[in-house]
Amino acid sequence: MRVLFATSEAVPLIKTGGLADVSGALPAALLKLGVDVRVLLPGYPQVLQALPPMPIVATFSGLFGFPAARLLEGSLPGGVPLWVLDCPDLYQRGGGPYVDERGQDWSDNPRRFGLLSKIAAVLGSDESPMAWRPDVVHCNDWQTGLIPAFLRYAPGAARSVMSIHNIAFQGVFPAHWTPELGLPWDCYKADGAEYYGNLSFLKAGLYFCDHITTVSPTYAREIQTDALGFGMQGLLQYKSHALTGILNGIDYDEWNPATDHHLSAHYDSQNLAGKAVNKAELQRRMGLDIDPAVPVFGLVSRFTYQKGIEVILEIVPQLLEMPAQLVMLGSGDPGIQSWAQELAYRYPGKIGVQVGFDEGLSHLIEAGSDLFLMPSRFEPCGLNQMYSQCYGTPPVVHATGGLVDSVVDCTEATLADGTATGFVIHGLSGATLSATVQRAVEAYRDPAVWSALQLNGMTRDFSWGQSAAVYRDIYQRVLDR
Ligand code: ADP
Ligand code: GLC
Repeated sequence: MRVLFATSEAVPLIKTGGLADVSGALPAALLKLGVDVRVLLPGYPQVLQALPPMPIVATFSGLFGFPAARLLEGSLPGGVPLWVLDCPDLYQRGGGPYVDERGQDWSDNPRRFGLLSKIAAVLGSDESPMAWRPDVVHCNDWQTGLIPAFLRYAPGAARSVMSIHNIAFQGVFPAHWTPELGLPWDCYKADGAEYYGNLSFLKAGLYFCDHITTVSPTYAREIQTDALGFGMQGLLQYKSHALTGILNGIDYDEWNPATDHHLSAHYDSQNLAGKAVNKAELQRRMGLDIDPAVPVFGLVSRFTYQKGIEVILEIVPQLLEMPAQLVMLGSGDPGIQSWAQELAYRYPGKIGVQVGFDEGLSHLIEAGSDLFLMPSRFEPCGLNQMYSQCYGTPPVVHATGGLVDSVVDCTEATLADGTATGFVIHGLSGATLSATVQRAVEAYRDPAVWSALQLNGMTRDFSWGQSAAVYRDIYQRVLDR
């Protein structure tokens, strides 16, 4: 079974969020299961710089006015075969994969990800110049959403699976892009790629694909509701027979406190002594009072409405009263950024804030914090709450999406049956967050409860194997149809 895994980011080459972690780990897990998988990724500068020079295996010119592009062949550092789509006009620039240096979306994003989708579809059809031809193209989020639409009109097309990592991002652009990207007007209709008078990349993918997946079972149900469907609920209800929620795994080669090279000391579930060393280092690095007794709450996140960060900032005075310390790493919304920085300035030694993206610090926060905060308003899967359990840092989460499927609330019953791993908030507000944080600090003060929580989390199996097998079964299912 041959699968082309098309994605706009992948660890360790280019990352803005969890999609990169998944794209770096799931293909490797599929390979282990015997799936002949290959990743397709745009040739951003970060990607080309990180890899050794790669041979050109195909060139594309004159594709519906897209600039000339080349396909380079290499492999991801873990060994998964890789095709890089090199198109300097579209991908060789500063800024990030989706936004410029000022955080504004690239105005030619429809063309940038239209090309990625077009080439993936060419590679998955009789039009491909390559000998290796996929049976299934696995698409991820709106950036690859036009692939199933292009495949719909291509000769000898592969089947397609469309994964939703976050339905809030849909790639909606003016209708004129439909012909400009080489799509027939025929696909631009309510039963197709049209969305309230615009072209929607994600809707195209959801409509034309053979199977839809999303990254947790709870989120698969939530996106069929008015509250969390972001306008796609009707289509998802209609295709619910072909919609599966599969919880993401974590990559233990990257996220393991016993081997993590970003840490000051290693530790595991048998011996947690090294965790205190990381805590002291984290307190030092973030300018906090170095105090082994005070609980440290950690947060690593995009600073956006989705993540519920303002709710944390609102309760900072109560949190510090407990007493506790707070460490925050992230970037995004300028309002949240400056509010967080202002609090750090107002409470020196108690709150440490770093604005920006810092892979090493994100690992140290997982290891050095006592508790991890993740009160997301919605969360398709979320990876940090799984990393934190594995690092002996029980998470405080809101009952939504993948957080429900991966964290077990600490109660008398769950402590007794050995399943408790964190703290779950029902109905997010300052009051409920504050009450849950209070409950967590009380548990932290009880050594027997605390070590049970830590051990339950650290010994849970979040590896990719099982989830990868479900993806393999879905590929088989669309092929058998
Ligand atoms: P999302 O994809 O919605 O941002 P996830 O929890 O699935 O949320 O994944 C986020 C990933 O990005 C995690 O690996 C997290 O550690 C990482 N991350 C987020 N913000 C930062 C940051 N500022 N610095 C380093 N890593 C970050
Ligand atoms: C998205 C979601 C996040 C998920 C990640 C990987 O960015 O917001 O919840 O874990 O994709 O699937």
